[in-house]
Amino acid sequence: MGNLKVTMTDVNGVTHSFGDVDAGANLMEVGKAHGVAGIFGDCGGGCACATCHVYVDPAWWAKVGEPDDIEYAMLDMVADVMKDTSRLGCQVKMSAELDGLSVKVAPASGV
Ligand code: FES
Repeated sequence: MGNLKVTMTDVNGVTHSFGDVDAGANLMEVGKAHGVAGIFGDCGGGCACATCHVYVDPAWWAKVGEPDDIEYAMLDMVADVMKDTSRLGCQVKMSAELDGLSVKVAPASGV
């Protein structure tokens, strides 16, 4: 078990903090492992469904970084709920640099 910390606010507005996250785990896996409402990960982390969509805390954006073109294209499909700090959770891997990361689960797209 890891010791990285992640805070996730679920789709209902309930905030959960975890301190047992492994380096290399992605945010979709973390959310699913802890039953965070609104994280589904339907495609299994293949960057093909956007059911792991999160908004990164702006304070962390520089460290998390921009989505690549493929991820951006997927996010663009849920443009009705996309924000400037949107990422697909399955594409954000935890590392010591992201210890303490805070994200909010995005609502489901109406598209
Ligand atoms: Fe499908 Fe992340 S789990 S895009």
